[in-house]
Amino acid sequence: MDARDVIRRCHVMAEYTEEPGHITRPYGSTSMAAAQQQVAQWMDEAGLNVEIDAVGNVRGVRGAAPRLMIGSHIDTVPHAGAFDGVLGVMMAIALCRGPVEVVAFAEEEVSFLGSRSLVLDDSVAAYLEFHIEQGPVLESLGLPLGVVESIVGQSRYDVRFTGRAGHAGTTPMRLRNDALAAAAEWIGQVERAAHETEGLVATVGRIEAAPGAANVIAGEVRATLDVRHACDSVRAAAVARMKPQPSRGVTVEFTPTMNQPAVRLDAEPVAHAVEAAGFPVHRMPSGAGHDAMIIARKLPASMLFLRSPGGISHHPDETVLEEDVAAALAVGARFIDDWRPR
Ligand code: HGY
Ligand code: MN
Ligand code: MN
Repeated sequence: MDARDVIRRCHVMAEYTEEPGHITRPYGSTSMAAAQQQVAQWMDEAGLNVEIDAVGNVRGVRGAAPRLMIGSHIDTVPHAGAFDGVLGVMMAIALCRGPVEVVAFAEEEVSFLGSRSLVLDDSVAAYLEFHIEQGPVLESLGLPLGVVESIVGQSRYDVRFTGRAGHAGTTPMRLRNDALAAAAEWIGQVERAAHETEGLVATVGRIEAAPGAANVIAGEVRATLDVRHACDSVRAAAVARMKPQPSRGVTVEFTPTMNQPAVRLDAEPVAHAVEAAGFPVHRMPSGAGHDAMIIARKLPASMLFLRSPGGISHHPDETVLEEDVAAALAVGARFIDDWRPR
């Protein structure tokens, strides 16, 4: 399998979706089940001994333990691009050589369920993940590949504002408990706090107001918060500042759904393979979360980024360059040839 085959298979995977015309393949969906079967077939054709585990991770092994595990995830965000996660799995299948375990994690985007559920024994000695950068750095530097040294920590929260629904025309402003006004004020505070903290990003990605009629004051608002930083103590302090406070008679629930510490990765073997394959070595952090950050708590975990043209991801315009996939395959082959269990 060459770079063109890898990219073609990513587009085949994009056809497994809950929404024709978009790429939306959430965990547990029928399109995910079909995608798992497709990946299992390609693993089998590559000479791997395949099983789908209890949470839906597709695992294919070959050769004697201890093995190198190579993989990524095959679930997507709504209206995704064709390469986030999937590219790493297709590259792993293309690189099947030596004692290897290829894994397609069934759920990464919401809770890292796939990699968190992985039961690791001494048959796996290290982990390697290829992934698109999902940002603008490599493109801005004119570089095809990035050696990932660390992954920032993430905090995620569900937020619920509870006020009182009422008639938009007859309720005086001073008598309102407007949940949506409270949420809007909070979102502005989150954005300002993030701008004031170097290297911090904070996102309110989803908001739903109820009852959701133009002529009704919102009685309830549910929203999400995602906060990230390379330093865990800076992230914790920022989250404390961003905690929403009751106002205008609106109460608030602030429920943590993720607290994922930052991790350092095993960058040297990847840097060596990039240099040995004749490409410039650029070391960088990852602002996106990856399965590697879960595996890194148990095994030496390494990542190689591929340039994201336009710096765009979690979007239909997400793409890769064929020559960058070819470069990454050459680096991957060198990594595997040089890899020895430690
Ligand atoms: O949200 C992330 O960083 C990743 O795409 N799951
Ligand atoms: Mn991903
Ligand atoms: Mn993603």
